[in-house]
Amino acid sequence: MDFLSNSRFKGIEKFDKKVWLSSPTMHGDEQRWVDEAIQTNWVSTVGQNINVVEEQAASIIGRPCAVALSAGTAALHLAIRLAGEKLYGSAMPNHGVLEGKKVFASDMTFDATVNPVCYEGGELVFIDTEYDSWNMDPVALEKAFQLYPDVRLIVVAHLYGTPGKVEEIRRIADEHGALIVEDAAESFGSTYKVEPGSALEKKLGKTGDIQTGCFGDISIISFNGNKIITGSSGGMLFCDDKADADKVRKWSTQAREAAAWYQHEELGYNYRMSNIIAGVVRGQLPYLSEHIEQKREIYRRYKEGLKDLPVSMNPIPSNTVPNYWLSCMLVEEGSMAPFVRGEKDELWKSESGKSSPGEILGALSFFGAEGRPIWKPMHMQPIYRTSSFITTEGNGRGRSNAYISGSGVDVGADIFRRGLCLPSDNKMTVEQQDRVIEIIHRCFQ
Ligand SMILES: Cc1ncc(COP(=O)(O)O)c(C=O)c1O
Repeated sequence: MDFLSNSRFKGIEKFDKKVWLSSPTMHGDEQRWVDEAIQTNWVSTVGQNINVVEEQAASIIGRPCAVALSAGTAALHLAIRLAGEKLYGSAMPNHGVLEGKKVFASDMTFDATVNPVCYEGGELVFIDTEYDSWNMDPVALEKAFQLYPDVRLIVVAHLYGTPGKVEEIRRIADEHGALIVEDAAESFGSTYKVEPGSALEKKLGKTGDIQTGCFGDISIISFNGNKIITGSSGGMLFCDDKADADKVRKWSTQAREAAAWYQHEELGYNYRMSNIIAGVVRGQLPYLSEHIEQKREIYRRYKEGLKDLPVSMNPIPSNTVPNYWLSCMLVEEGSMAPFVRGEKDELWKSESGKSSPGEILGALSFFGAEGRPIWKPMHMQPIYRTSSFITTEGNGRGRSNAYISGSGVDVGADIFRRGLCLPSDNKMTVEQQDRVIEIIHRCFQ
């Protein structure tokens, strides 16, 4: 669609340089540590950069053990495998450790959060989202335990940098003797306030503003190119027990036993972080607070600039301090212009005083700014359409009835339909952001 020929967008100019959703921000130190690795010939999956980033990330998060891996997805796979082994024992090499087991997982997230459950043969049960933080709804989780009381593993993500309701989720997990794998891929640097006397204090032995990455029995972060701190790729697994960290390190380097030749008693993977990637991460880590501050300002400017429109920003619960990785917005139901999505295409129509994610993302893209739809909930994805889905009302499948009026809640589907991620690049200038805000205003004219 040619937005320039539409009088509502009169006077708006295209960006001469693309405004990104969230692109890497390099500072120069990255080059130094990469060069040093090359000059000293530590161009492998061992080296000083790896040792340093493991130490530094563990110290930032406040957890005893960190293992540097090739991707957040690799970290999630090994976290889920480790949790599965702890719960159900090891499996034959051609079988997953979760075979025949159901696993509760966040529904509105990137599929990397949940796919590793399938790598290990587990059966996913998706838990609906809540409006307060756009993360797993603890009420729906309780419902899920009523329906499936034998489940022992929960995989929970913190979306867009905002921590979920980890106190409630921890309390429910403890009541059912379940382990938590925490996907903090998007929330590195975010904190959640742990109160005295809480289930989390009992688990962690500390109170106050605690970093995400501490709340799972095993947790992960990602250094993917669009994350707040990047190595171009890479991930990190966090746990409390050195033996667990050593086991993950072993699995990540093809599971070699202590023999002079290649001796294998367990299934291995090639998942270790390279010393070159670790050099980039090492250069980035000192800038975590600076990046968070820039992202916070972006969120603040959107909130201020969009306050006269019938939209809201992604919510920030008062007991959290997010890293503001992506700023997102939600169009009020009454101000949604007609908008439908198929499997791979969408249709929207302009209507005076109203708009839709389809129109806004189309306009932003036309003028040269990158936004993105909200993560399409897993229970709506073709690959997982037959998986169970639990809402605050119980079973989220087959909710309508040809003979009775009314249908059930589906918070994830609602946020997906009405929400979008705004350009949140920390190198975006105030002028560029003002133009993004103006384009959104024009959509509602
Ligand atoms: C929520 C979430 N989980 C997992 C991942 C996977 O991380 P990676 O890309 O490092 O494999 C990502 C991002 O990429 C993510 O956003």
